Amino acid sequence: MGYAGVAAEARASVKSVPLIDLHAQYISIKTEIDAAIAAVIAKSAFIRGPHVEAFEEHFAGAIGAKHCVSCGNGTDALYIAMRALGLQAGDEVITSAHSWIATAETITQAGGKVVFCDTDKDTFTIDVKRLADLITPRTVGIIPVHLYGQPADMDPILALAERHGLWVIEDCAQAHLAKYKGRTVGTFGAAATFSFYPSKNLGAIGDAGAIVTNDAALARQMATFSRHGGLTKGEHEIEGINSRLDGLQAAVLSVKLEHLPSWTRIRQAVASAYDQGLASFSEITRPVIAASRQHVYHLYVIRHDHRDALANHLQARGVQTGLHYPVALPFLEAYAYLGHGPDDFPNAFHNQSRILSLPMYPEMSDAQRAHVIGAIGDFCARKPK
Ligand SMILES: Cc1ncc(COP(=O)(O)O)c(C=O)c1O
Repeated sequence: MGYAGVAAEARASVKSVPLIDLHAQYISIKTEIDAAIAAVIAKSAFIRGPHVEAFEEHFAGAIGAKHCVSCGNGTDALYIAMRALGLQAGDEVITSAHSWIATAETITQAGGKVVFCDTDKDTFTIDVKRLADLITPRTVGIIPVHLYGQPADMDPILALAERHGLWVIEDCAQAHLAKYKGRTVGTFGAAATFSFYPSKNLGAIGDAGAIVTNDAALARQMATFSRHGGLTKGEHEIEGINSRLDGLQAAVLSVKLEHLPSWTRIRQAVASAYDQGLASFSEITRPVIAASRQHVYHLYVIRHDHRDALANHLQARGVQTGLHYPVALPFLEAYAYLGHGPDDFPNAFHNQSRILSLPMYPEMSDAQRAHVIGAIGDFCARKPK
């Protein structure tokens, strides 16, 4: 159901639509969440312990990976994975020009050199046609990002990586349960990193993250590094960092993990209703899904040539929107030292001023969605041509 099929009175009753509604999610599973939190507090199992171990096992199972190493957040997950893979000073790592800064800044923090690759204009994922040209004798790895919840084109990435002896870390922060050629993302590379930031498809009640892998030795190395360099109290094989998942987050995440498959299906249904409702507005570019990908719609991102005017119009109609992200990574001040210009990343540059994230969350009502579509329709109808 798109715009039509929702009674006018129901639409008229909607005053505002947030980008995401975490309170509505909490209310929908309040009893389970409250019980899980109480159980952790009753046992004082605050750092690691049975809740963390149980979540690691469940999450690895949900992704189809052999091992899950939980940690403090999705940024640490990237850093830990790269350190455990043995990144050396000056090693080059290729990643997407269109992502959250965590994907790139951790390369530098781990001692590497960031090499940006432009994105495919329509899917926003790393442009596999441009990857080969970026490989040098110093390249050690590739970090594709399954941006917004759509998998990157993994087959050519893996083929190239194998040919050049490179590792691949999938940045799955926005793509829990997304599928590429029928297989859940997170099992394609040497390791895959996840964020459980509260607004993510699987979100904690604070910061949380994890890395999954099928490689037992790598899992051990990552766990060791993230826990001060030792898995046994008093023993430190190496110097590490402190990045641990706490019991409260783990218990909440285990509850939410049970709901994730149905929440994902609802996100996909909301997206197809948006697709249908927006189809007649020719100036709106809807999300483009490449063949053999299952998008999980962490974000539903449209494009419009007058994006800011559309966003302002929607705000005036009570519709909250977002920009993910307003400036592509190579054009941020943080990367000015690389000296890049728009011509180096034409697709990322083209998209950064056109993208607009619409409200997307499983608890969204039909009337709220119809309100968003109606407000966009009004904008398209009145915009001077
Ligand atoms: C693509 C991507 N990578 C990495 C991260 C980092 O995750 P966290 O915020 O949990 O550190 C995020 C989170 O926003 C992300 O969207």
